[in-house]
Amino acid sequence: MSVAAAIQIDQRVKSFVTKPRKMLVGGEWVEAASGKTFATFNPASGEVLAQVAEGEKEDVDRAVKAARNAFESGPWRRMTTSERGRLIWKLADLIEAHLEEFAQLETLDNGKPVVIARVADVPLAVDLFRYMAGWATKIEGNTIPISVPYTPGAQYLAYTLREPVGVVAQIIPWNFPLLMAAWKLGPALAAGCTVVLKPAEQTPLSALRLGELICEAGFPQGVINIVPGYGESAGAALAAHPGVDKVAFTGSTEVGKLVLAAAAGNLKKVSLELGGKSPNLVLKDADLEVVIPGAANAIFFNHGQCCCAGSRLYVEKEIFDEVVEGVAAQAKKIKVGPGLDPTTEMGPLVSNEQQQRVLGYLEAGFAEGAKAVVGGHRAGEAGYFVEPTVLVDTSQNMKVMQEEIFGPVVCAVPFQELDEVIQAANDNIYGLAAAVWTRDISKAHRIARELRAGSVWINCFNIFDAALPFGGYKQSGWGREMGHDALELYTEVKAVCARL
Ligand code: NAI
Ligand code: MG
Repeated sequence: MSVAAAIQIDQRVKSFVTKPRKMLVGGEWVEAASGKTFATFNPASGEVLAQVAEGEKEDVDRAVKAARNAFESGPWRRMTTSERGRLIWKLADLIEAHLEEFAQLETLDNGKPVVIARVADVPLAVDLFRYMAGWATKIEGNTIPISVPYTPGAQYLAYTLREPVGVVAQIIPWNFPLLMAAWKLGPALAAGCTVVLKPAEQTPLSALRLGELICEAGFPQGVINIVPGYGESAGAALAAHPGVDKVAFTGSTEVGKLVLAAAAGNLKKVSLELGGKSPNLVLKDADLEVVIPGAANAIFFNHGQCCCAGSRLYVEKEIFDEVVEGVAAQAKKIKVGPGLDPTTEMGPLVSNEQQQRVLGYLEAGFAEGAKAVVGGHRAGEAGYFVEPTVLVDTSQNMKVMQEEIFGPVVCAVPFQELDEVIQAANDNIYGLAAAVWTRDISKAHRIARELRAGSVWINCFNIFDAALPFGGYKQSGWGREMGHDALELYTEVKAVCARL
């Protein structure tokens, strides 16, 4: 691991991390009710990066109250959909104007290469807000012809209204901190909801900077509240809160189940975007010049910390060795280092805990007989780095083949029969994404229908767009984010019926 010159840190970023950051409640920046703060770390060095107000139950109560007030009364409710859309668009413009600052904050807090944050995380967040801004004026109901057999001769006008679901709690993870905030906030705001957002404790900074731009854009007070804190305290309080109408969660399947249980108290609506163990199928007629970098990117993008990471690479037997060697060569070439170094291609994992979790999976894999063609260890001495790793000699029931590792580790497996590989691909509790690589386009579409996953990529991977719905089958979650499907998560349908 070599360290070249790091980029110059933006002055605003420097001053943002030196001051303890407060939380946004009812349009005011406030300290935690307890006065407590917690530290967020720079994963490239393991050093403390900034102090952040630690939200707990009482702070959540205050934020929910502010969101309720903003929902029930005040300017947000009276605002036209056009005005609402313009505000969301303005927020997108502001993020874009501060692109470099956001990219640097993401790198400092999460570890990802700044060159990636500049072209992926931040522009995707901007685009998401713009896409959802357009929806604000297009959320419509229907007029519905009705017959009502027991009132013969009567005439009715019946129609539906799509109304905001109300006060929404949004709990997000650390892998794409700003982008996950955008995926959550965009559709909720377009629908007219008010929000309490809880960023992950590992990466609260970009959401808090976003909060400043939300104030600058002119969103009415209390429409968006941001309460940083830990999952077991702030997160759990939000999921259980009786004043919340809907909770949207992205994170581990384990915590998703806790959120669901907590939501049962007042039967709040729930949407969940959870884990994955996505199969990536390579057929022997595929163009290997595209497949090899594609399969490497499928797992190594964002250091494998993607819920849709292509972590099970099934390759037709005839080309197995060539593909594995190719992906391993790509892995070897990846420049691992601090995200602020502009030549870095892979940064550290987000936390010591995540590094230990991934190393634990590697150990379990080796104990069960898996072999690393490349990688297999931690990288560097300081920081939370792990080598890009390609495992072979795995079998379907091994832990590394069944469980989400959430690190730069792919299991490569040869296959002979298409039916068998489809069955193996679907043999998992998750169903978030899948991919198939082949030149036979009709075969590709047939396979796409067989794969039990919310996204299927053909001859590509990790392709995201604000217009394309994303979410999971099976234990990968409930509901779809992005696209117009996302609006369903944040609206209720009201049937209105008038006798004429
Ligand atoms: P996590 O599920 O604990 O954290 C995600 C969010 O949930 C954070 O904001 C956290 O504060 C919050 N949270 C934690 N416990 C909570 C509770 N009891 N009630 C309400 N909110 C709670 O994920 P963690 O521990 O950071 O990562 C563990 C594993 O989860 C990863 O190794 C990965 O497999 C998976 N994961 C999946 C993600 C995805 O995009 N689907 C994102 C992050 C993690
Ligand atoms: Mg951090």
